[in-house]
Amino acid sequence: MSDRNITAMVTGASAGLGAEFCRQLADRCDVIIAVARRAEPMLSLAEELKDKAEVHIVEADLTTIEGVARATEAIRQQGPLDYLINNAGFSAMGNFERGEIEVQLAMVNLHIGATLSLCRAAIPYMREIGGGHIVNVSSVGALLPSPGVSVYSATKAFLNSYSVSLQAELAGSGISVQSLCPGYTRTEIHDIDAMAKFDKAMVPDEYWMEVGPVVRASLDGLNNEDVILVVGETNLALVKKALKSQLDAL
Ligand SMILES: NC(=O)c1ccc[n+]([C@@H]2O[C@H](COP(=O)([O-])OP(=O)(O)OC[C@H]3O[C@@H](n4cnc5c(N)ncnc54)[C@H](OP(=O)(O)O)[C@@H]3O)[C@@H](O)[C@H]2O)c1
Repeated sequence: MSDRNITAMVTGASAGLGAEFCRQLADRCDVIIAVARRAEPMLSLAEELKDKAEVHIVEADLTTIEGVARATEAIRQQGPLDYLINNAGFSAMGNFERGEIEVQLAMVNLHIGATLSLCRAAIPYMREIGGGHIVNVSSVGALLPSPGVSVYSATKAFLNSYSVSLQAELAGSGISVQSLCPGYTRTEIHDIDAMAKFDKAMVPDEYWMEVGPVVRASLDGLNNEDVILVVGETNLALVKKALKSQLDAL
């Protein structure tokens, strides 16, 4: 038995996939550091999970330097992380040239900047304890770039590329890196103002997944040799077809 707390940090823990990561990680962790802007849903989650794990809440806007500093400080204070789940994210639908550049840059800060800073803060401690797991929540959009979500897809493509290289750099450290690529998953992500142009009804039922199976696939796949994990048979078939036509076009 370990004489230290098994600890996870989950960003974007106030809703959707992040809240589900907290629920499933509570079965294997003593402490979960939950990070997001809205405290209230995280307080409810802490109450729900209190018999399984201690949930520490960090209210932070991870598009800002201050918010990221608050989260990295929590890593220093709570000790080594066994799990770092870089999940916080949002999408915005619309043509790049007509969209607000501030929103696109905030997305870059959140998906890329916060992920890099938190990995950089967590890895030295993971090395000290001889291992750990990093999940960078990407998207099938990383492999299927499409108009209307150009910056979203590009930030997720960054995460895939970065995760593969990082895993190679960490060979032999005991640290695993996963770039999780979910497809359409029922969460709050499609309900924000920036997604007003997105019509959920246009997506056939067979493409939608619930958060439970997506997070289960991620945790079950933590030690997979392949860093990039596309979740769901329908998504996998779609991605393989698209990648094949991209290769054929070269
Ligand atoms: N759902 C899908 O169809 C889908 C598909 C592929 C990939 N993904 C990815 O999955 C991840 C989770 O998304 P979700 O679907 O679970 O969406 P969600 O239900 O909208 O949850 C997003 C989470 O990110 C947090 N967040 C957003 N902006 C933040 C900020 N500035 N600072 C800190 N936290 C912030 C939100 O918390 P606060 O609002 O409280 O800050 C919330 O907890 C994202 O990276 C997304 O790109 C989702």
